Amino acid sequence: MKKKKILCVLTAAAMSIAMLAGCGNSSGGSSDAGGDTAAASGSGEYADKKVGVCIYQFADNFMTLFRTELENDLVSKGFSKDNITIVDGANDQATQTNQIQNFITQGVDVIIVNPVNSSSAAAITDLVTAANIPLVYINREPDADEEKRWADNNWNVTYVGCDARQSGTMQGEIIVDLGKETVDLNGDGKIQYIMIEGAPENVDAQYRTEFSVKALQDAGWEVDCLDDQVGNWDQATAQQLVANSLSAHPDTEVVFCNNDAMALGALQSIEAAGRTVGKDIYLVGVDALTEALEDVIAGKMTGTVFNDHIAQSHSTSDAAINYVKGSTNEHYIGCDYVKVKSDNAQSILDSLK
Ligand code: BGC
Repeated sequence: MKKKKILCVLTAAAMSIAMLAGCGNSSGGSSDAGGDTAAASGSGEYADKKVGVCIYQFADNFMTLFRTELENDLVSKGFSKDNITIVDGANDQATQTNQIQNFITQGVDVIIVNPVNSSSAAAITDLVTAANIPLVYINREPDADEEKRWADNNWNVTYVGCDARQSGTMQGEIIVDLGKETVDLNGDGKIQYIMIEGAPENVDAQYRTEFSVKALQDAGWEVDCLDDQVGNWDQATAQQLVANSLSAHPDTEVVFCNNDAMALGALQSIEAAGRTVGKDIYLVGVDALTEALEDVIAGKMTGTVFNDHIAQSHSTSDAAINYVKGSTNEHYIGCDYVKVKSDNAQSILDSLK
């Protein structure tokens, strides 16, 4: 299925402007900023509208950035903070489904869902659309059949997120950009790597795993997977996995992590093993967490990929606004990732301050 994408202008130079403007929304609706003062006093344009937000798990670094920015943006665009309820699914689908049912009972005006399991999307959509409440999925993309149902039934349901294939490809390109001579440390003509994956049923994890390696193969490089483990997006888990992996496979040349939290854990184990990134091993993540950007600048991580939580959260509030105003949205609202290496890490970091 061909995805319609809204391209965020995110070259390093233009980034701060993009940050201010947000990522455009798909249906041309204005963001109708209500103004901070009005919002704070509860008299913003949407102050009487209720928003229910379900996050799959609060203890997730990236989703914490996303939900914080989402709440601030909703308030700055005219919602009242008191009418925005954000709940923690604690990584349990039954808990989250209950939370969605509660939002329906309360009669909220729009529901935003970061699903625990994307495979539960059909059930969630059925619940929410039966109650005639518009629904915005974020971060974990439901499958193509589910998205097709929204269009076929003309439901007020959309997804805001990025195409994880792009992030995987960029991770691989960061390695390819170094040149094969540099990365093939043992000179055997192949790249020995280990892969640390996010949550198994998550499409971001699947695509990043597949497309990072594909980028090496597309460049004509032979690859040799020494280990592939599930780190569930978690730093401590990844730290342990990479420690085990490096001791079993000291010939590892590249460590691919599906996100930065896990790359930070990997870095702890790389250093504990007496290895040096950029010298005798290479390490890439995704998200551009502040700590990861600092590590890229310091040369302790080879690179990362900016997962633009600012553009995504702003597009989410724009989509919610369109729905509460009674207009519609496209069923897919996308945003581009940005490749981050030592030459642009500082400007990305500055733009996030
Ligand atoms: C992010 C991860 C995060 C996950 C949550 C991904 O897009 O890169 O850091 O844990 O979303 O679903």
